Amino acid sequence: MSTERSPEEIRREIRRRRTFAIISHPDAGKTTLTEKLLLYGGALREAGAVRAQKAARHATSDWLELEKQRGISVSSSVLHFEFGGHRVNILDTPGHRDFSEDTYRTLMAADSAVMLIDAARGVEPQTRKLCEVCRLRQIPIFTFVNKMDRHGRDPLDIMSEIEEVLGMDVVPANWPVGAGSDFRGIYDRLERRLVLFSGGDHGTHRVDEEIVAGEPADPEVARAMGPFASEVADGLELLEGAGAELDAERVGSGSQTPMFFGSALTNFGVRPFLERYLEMAPGPVARQSGGEPVDPVTRPFSGFVFKIQANMDPDHRDRVAFLRICSGRFVKGRQTTHVRTGKPIRLANSTLLMGKDREEVEEAFAGDVVGLFDPGLFRIGDTLSDEPGIAYAGIPIFAPESFMRVEVAGVQKRKALEKGVEQLVQEGVVQLFRDPDGGSASWILGAMGPLQFDVMKHRLQTEYGVELKLSNLPYTIARWPQAGFAPEDLRYSERIRVVKDRDDGWALLAHSPWDFDRLCERNESLVLAETPDPSLFESAR
Ligand code: G4P
Repeated sequence: MSTERSPEEIRREIRRRRTFAIISHPDAGKTTLTEKLLLYGGALREAGAVRAQKAARHATSDWLELEKQRGISVSSSVLHFEFGGHRVNILDTPGHRDFSEDTYRTLMAADSAVMLIDAARGVEPQTRKLCEVCRLRQIPIFTFVNKMDRHGRDPLDIMSEIEEVLGMDVVPANWPVGAGSDFRGIYDRLERRLVLFSGGDHGTHRVDEEIVAGEPADPEVARAMGPFASEVADGLELLEGAGAELDAERVGSGSQTPMFFGSALTNFGVRPFLERYLEMAPGPVARQSGGEPVDPVTRPFSGFVFKIQANMDPDHRDRVAFLRICSGRFVKGRQTTHVRTGKPIRLANSTLLMGKDREEVEEAFAGDVVGLFDPGLFRIGDTLSDEPGIAYAGIPIFAPESFMRVEVAGVQKRKALEKGVEQLVQEGVVQLFRDPDGGSASWILGAMGPLQFDVMKHRLQTEYGVELKLSNLPYTIARWPQAGFAPEDLRYSERIRVVKDRDDGWALLAHSPWDFDRLCERNESLVLAETPDPSLFESAR
């Protein structure tokens, strides 16, 4: 049983939490960086284990069979460790080429994001999409330019690409000394010192650091930089001349991103990044409930469900709801309210998730994520709160870009099919649309990318024993009419189809964005939104 905590202790616990997600394009090094952060956080004694654990998981889990087959990480998990007095929660986002809403939802639970860029590749498409979501939420984004141990692009080039493509000001917190096989260290612009790295046993252990305090032109610093001294001094002078200063407020709102250089593979630059990041990144901030901010420290326990996953582990055929705690302290076994139904619930079975390993939690604080065993009660976006009147805005639904028609199974299997589809729609694996006057014969599934259909098929087969048959539909875009819409106007349209969404609202599916442009030109009063409830983005901040 957990002990009582004073308000001061609760405040301290909440303030020291840092909850973030890493956003990147596949192969930029997210798994590697995550592993190295765990190494520096003392959660791993030797690097190599995360990948090894991935492999071990593959051997034991049905659900992850698909990950093995496709060589990708489909599910996301939560990792945590302690570093420099901070409690660090990393929300691991799936890194495959297709988008899933899971990734977006995870970003809703994060207080900041680390944007990982491959030094040779610069800004890639997936990074751009994820960055857009962070910008919408106005959460701080910290940039880590990875793979500096390889021959990459000029740092100034990467900087201007981020500024141009992502529309953020970039301010380097440090500057690389050497590159490729000559990557030696970084010059820390904030502390005004040089940090040179060595050792690290090819990344399995923490690296040694030699620190030389002083300005880049100081003889001792210049001597330590060796052949790179003048190049680094020139680069830094250019930055100084451009007035590139970090501004906490602008970083906080996501309009400026601090930039760091390093190599997750060799561990060069990982510690300086982690330390500075934890110092600059915000702890849990007030989230909005009905337009009012809910202070994470002074208000009682509350949180929202941002992800639900069933059958994660074939040994435990259960359903886990991931709860992001937004205020106060969570205590195992205590009673709280499930706001949507107004029912009291006791949070008896709660787990903290560390990768796939589950630990029982006795208590947790605002900023943490706990997994709750879900008897079928929760929906994504649900609020739990000790205090009446708190309800966090739901999680925005994103417009799918791939659509399939469900071929109905034989009568015997129909029940299982309906149950499975219902479950996976609830988890947000895919979105469900219907023709306005049909039953299950008219189901249309929508997803951000085709991979989600594979996940759906795989899970329906392994978990519900149903073979899902799908046929392609030619649509690539969905919009939700907000005003000026009359369904009969589109009855005979060949390029736009009128459907109902899961909540029985009207939605439109079209072959291309051009179809919607044409439609809006013809009907000036028509207002189309990219999500069923566009205001959710505003209120989810
Ligand atoms: P992801 O999760 O973002 O998809 O990337 P992941 O960490 O799996 O890394 C993708 C590849 O990039 C891996 O190589 C990894 O070793 C490499 N990598 C990651 N960080 C760095 C870095 O700082 N420098 C260099 N040079 N490479 C890096 P791989 O060949 O696909 O796998 P493996 O054989 O190394 O396991």
